[in-house]
This record gives sequence, structure tokens and C-alpha cells, in this order.
Amino acid sequence: MRKKADSSVEMHPILAERWSPRSFNGDVEISIADLTGILEAARWAPSSMNSQPWRFVVARRGDHRFAQLIDSMGGFNKVWSPKASALILVTAVTTQPDGSIRQGALYDAGLAASLLTVEAHHRGQVVHQIGGFDHEAVKRDFKLAPELTPIAILAIGKQAPADALGDPKLVEREIAARSRLPLDELILSGSF
Ligand SMILES: Cc1cc2nc3c(=O)[nH]c(=O)nc-3n(C[C@H](O)[C@H](O)[C@H](O)COP(=O)(O)O)c2cc1C
Repeated sequence: MRKKADSSVEMHPILAERWSPRSFNGDVEISIADLTGILEAARWAPSSMNSQPWRFVVARRGDHRFAQLIDSMGGFNKVWSPKASALILVTAVTTQPDGSIRQGALYDAGLAASLLTVEAHHRGQVVHQIGGFDHEAVKRDFKLAPELTPIAILAIGKQAPADALGDPKLVEREIAARSRLPLDELILSGSF
């Protein structure tokens, strides 16, 4: 199923066609080459002072890390995400050694996740971001260092038809139109 962005002008095809499906093909595995490629895309993201504060936990369906990440999720995320081929926990180093806040770390990690997502779609994978998980549980389960803040889990895999989700509510969400604020609401002070 495709849900091309209804943009005011044409965009790069990957950006126009990218969306966040929840229906994954639970029979396919992601190759090490594809996983490496998408992690490289994150690695080469820009960051404040080239500080590269992003850190990832990488899990593939069937391994114990994958099960731990699924366990950490709440509500309906637990229902659809187990068919993803991989889950990547995105964390960032958000404090300095002296305990002060590392400004910009979350922004930098988001940029890395964004480029990772584009590379994944370029490789024929789809990505769905998940914020609904127990942050304390993943800190504990993965023994995250105190300076690391968990941010999101990225579900990555091959897209499946919407009706493969089974649950009618999930199917309804899957086929719903994508929407965005109009561009002029995003531009402040009439600056464009
Ligand atoms: C930080 C973040 C957290 C999100 N958390 C969830 C989530 O817990 N569960 C879920 O199903 N989708 C989640 N989403 C997905 C958004 O709902 C989705 O990106 C948004 O609706 C736009 O959809 P589109 O990419 O298909 O246009 C999250 C997205 C982001 C960026």
C-alpha cells in the first residue's frame, strides 16, 4: 500500500513515498548488508560539534534483545511490532561528565534516526518509530550508562498488506490518509 505525500511541489521520491506502516512481513529477515547500510546512514549524520551523541541497541527478530524491546512496549505497539525484522533502540548521550545537560543531543539523535529511515526506505525496507515503551525497563535491561537517554524504538522490515494486521482498528489506522499541517502554519512571522 502506498500513501504518497500530498506536497505542494514534487519532492525526492523516497521522501514523498516514505510513510510509517505497521504491517510487516514476519517471514522475512533483514540482511546484515541492509542493517549495516542503515546504521552507516545514521553514523554519517551531522551533529553539533560533530559530537555524534547517538547510541543504538540493535535487535533482530528471534534474538533476546528483540524480545526485551517488545516486552518494554505498551499497548497496541506490542501487537503489531513483533513482525518487524529488526528493532533499533535509539539513545543519546544527554549529559556531560560533570552532569550538565548536553544541549542538542536529542536533536542530533533525531537527525541520525531520520537519515537511517531514509536509507532504510531506499533499501526497500520501511520504518515505524515508537515512543510508547518503558524507558526505565530498557535502561535496566540493556544496562544503559547513566548518561544515555532512551528516545525511540525503530521497527524496520518489509511492508505487508494492511489487512495482514488482522485487528480491524489497526487496519483502519493503516489505511487512513496521512495528514500534515499546512506549510504556512510552519513558517513564522510571515517569513516565506
Ligand atoms: C518520536 C516518535 C514516536 C512515535 N511513537 C509511536 C508509537 O508509540 N506508536 C505508533 O504506532 N506510532 C508512533 N509514531 C509514529 C507516528 O504516529 C507517525 O510517524 C506519524 O503519524 C506520521 O506518520 P507517517 O510517517 O506515516 O506520515 C511515533 C513517531 C515518532 C517520530
